[in-house]
Amino acid sequence: MSTNTEAARDLTLAHKALEVMSRAHAPYSRFPVGAALLGRSGKTYLGVNVENASLGLSVCAERIAIFTAITAGERAFDAIAIATSESAPTPPCGACRQVLLEFGGDELSVLHVNSGRPDVVARHTLGELVPFPFRQFTPGA
Ligand code: THU
Repeated sequence: MSTNTEAARDLTLAHKALEVMSRAHAPYSRFPVGAALLGRSGKTYLGVNVENASLGLSVCAERIAIFTAITAGERAFDAIAIATSESAPTPPCGACRQVLLEFGGDELSVLHVNSGRPDVVARHTLGELVPFPFRQFTPGA
C-alpha cells in the first residue's frame, strides 16, 4: 500500500474511532475511549469502553472491538485506531496489547487520535509496543 493510501486509510479509521467514542459508558473514570479495528476483509469493527459499578468488570474499547470482530468471523487485522479526548498519546493498555497479539502480527498498525486534533494520527506497530511478546506455550512442558 502506498504511503498516501495508508495515510487516508488511517485517517478514515481514526475518524470512526472518534465518532464511536461518544457511545462509551464511562461514568466512573469519565475517560471515554473509542476503537475502530480494520479487518483484512475490509470491514471495520467498533468498540467503546464499558464500565461497571463493580469497577474491575469494566472492559476497554479495544477488547470490545476485537471480540466483536472475532464473533463476526474475522481473524486477521491490518490496523486499530484508538480515540480519546486526552492530548497526550494514549496507546492501548497492556491487557489489550496482549489480546491484540493473539490475532495481529508485529506489523499491525496501532493508531492514536484525540478529539482536540482529529486530523493528527500517531502511528506505531504492535511490534514496537510489545517488543518481547508472550505468544505461545507448549502444553504440559
Ligand atoms: N481504557 C480503554 O478503553 N482502553 C485502554 O487501552 C486504556 C483504558 C478505559 C478503561 C476505563 O474504562 C478507562 O479507560 C480508564 O482507565
